[in-house]
Amino acid sequence: MKIAIIGQGYVGLALAKVAVESGHNVIGFDTNLKVISGIKDKNLELPNYQVTNSEADITDKEVYIIAVPTPLDQNNLPDLSYLKQASELIGRAATKGALVINESTSYPGTLREIVITEIEKINKSQFLYASAPERIDPANTKWSIKNTPRILAGINAKSTIAALEFYKTICDDVTAVSSPEVAESAKLFENTFRQVNVALVNELAQISNKLGISATEVIQAAATKPFGFMKFNPGLGVGGHCIPIDPIYLAQKAEQLGAPAKFIRQANLVNEQMPLYVLQKLKELLNGSLQKKKICIVGLSYKADVSDLRQSPSLVLFKELQNSGANVVFHDEIVKDFNDIKSTPLTQNSFDLTLVAIRHSNLAVDKVIASAPIVFDCTGSITGAHQL
Ligand SMILES: NC(=O)c1ccc[n+]([C@@H]2O[C@H](COP(=O)([O-])OP(=O)(O)OC[C@H]3O[C@@H](n4cnc5c(N)ncnc54)[C@H](O)[C@@H]3O)[C@@H](O)[C@H]2O)c1
Repeated sequence: MKIAIIGQGYVGLALAKVAVESGHNVIGFDTNLKVISGIKDKNLELPNYQVTNSEADITDKEVYIIAVPTPLDQNNLPDLSYLKQASELIGRAATKGALVINESTSYPGTLREIVITEIEKINKSQFLYASAPERIDPANTKWSIKNTPRILAGINAKSTIAALEFYKTICDDVTAVSSPEVAESAKLFENTFRQVNVALVNELAQISNKLGISATEVIQAAATKPFGFMKFNPGLGVGGHCIPIDPIYLAQKAEQLGAPAKFIRQANLVNEQMPLYVLQKLKELLNGSLQKKKICIVGLSYKADVSDLRQSPSLVLFKELQNSGANVVFHDEIVKDFNDIKSTPLTQNSFDLTLVAIRHSNLAVDKVIASAPIVFDCTGSITGAHQL
């Protein structure tokens, strides 16, 4: 099929590759010239794939898939400007009968209220519409776009059938649900489930600390129960484009409708405050003051084995430590440099304290231990280090 994917970032480019591998002819459209030249420079252009910022290249395709950012604006509210622009673009480019799919994460109602509304303002032709939220998990070597079950729904039976037929060519397991709102809500609920459970174990870490016991040991003990329990690990907070943001999309929609979202809001708050909790712990370990203390944060990205710094709690802690007068450096062999600061090597006894925020697979733990007299480990995986 002739496909245009709007947005060639993390999700859009990964989808383009899978679609090409499945035999489709794909045009990847992006408004950011750096993204386009990055794809060209890395020779990621494959046969049957072309990356472009020219609207002329995406006219008259059979399938249009939206994979643009859905962040929060300055007031912490859903920012749908990218989604609106992408919809307008499709309105200008698509011709009658095309299948338009939204994969970007957004609140229930987005397909109808934003995508369809914006397209119909420009183009009165009949289109098929579906929502098929992406579930990709960066750095996950087991679950990919292909083998992660996909849920989707069209606005009518014809749209659902067309979307099912398309996704069956790229995914092993595709399920249609009864409406786009169900698909959109399921995606938000999955990530909210994670946000809430991470917040719960982050609270447990603080409770265990006061009790003088190890949260990791408590969680491991609880996880021996073979039913009714699912293991989550505490950490410095949550980051990335999904877990800190998607629940706010759900909460905002809930509150607009007069439904409660207290749990979701509270979970967000607990996770957001983790870097401040850790800051306090570090202060205690350094006898009450961080002034001029040399502190190394190990792992700057938001999760192991990725370079993505978006919403990373390590960056929040970095700033808080600087504001407290500490001399902060970082070690991250994947991120390598950030704001013109380069990753510092882990040489012996070079810091007053080393904090492990994220543990990439290739991290030399012996070097971490030797790098400072005090090691604080937010990952719960380094024996002998101070824990959350
Ligand atoms: N990254 C993930 O792990 C992940 C997982 C599942 C779902 N999602 C969702 O997928 C969507 C995309 O996320 P991402 O991580 O790929 O974001 P990203 O920032 O990596 O990529 C988005 C791309 O869209 C481009 N873009 C912005 N406006 C555009 C427009 N009007 N027309 C064309 N291109 C435009 C940007 O230049 C960027 O390259 C979001 O809704 C996100 O929540 C992301």
